[in-house]
Amino acid sequence: MLDKLKIIDFPKIEDPRGNLTFVQQNKHIPFAIERVYWIYDVPGGQVRGGHAFKKQQEVIVALSGSFDVLVNNGKQEVSYTLNRSYFGLYIPNGIWRSLQNFSTNAVALVLSSTRFSESDYIRNYEQYKHYLNVANE
Ligand code: TYD
Repeated sequence: MLDKLKIIDFPKIEDPRGNLTFVQQNKHIPFAIERVYWIYDVPGGQVRGGHAFKKQQEVIVALSGSFDVLVNNGKQEVSYTLNRSYFGLYIPNGIWRSLQNFSTNAVALVLSSTRFSESDYIRNYEQYKHYLNVANE
């Protein structure tokens, strides 16, 4: 299941005046974007995430600074370091994730396939494992 995760290399228009990157839904982003949010002003040592989504797919971009995204499918764990604003990490639904090791001034942009819905979250790891077992039956 972790093989569906991928780093997406966004277009980068290099220019002596400063570089520009853009994304279009269903082209560079493999879903229609329903919501965008961003995480910033993260105090040193804090961890965000710590949950999975039943439906939400997302692409996470380090717009500024760097942080690690730790992903887990109940069996394997992989860590991605994001530190370039022209790379996005695609995470399908059903994956447990945490964001950590935020640098000073890091900004994590999240492009989401769904609107916010608390009922889409699985916030307890034991419940997540149960969810996977039921989904795989
Ligand atoms: P949460 O997704 O748990 O944060 P994290 O980035 O650490 O996973 O969201 C934190 C709080 O913000 C939670 O109470 C839900 C609320 N929230 C919204 O109201 N709308 C949103 O789009 C998001 C992402 C979160």
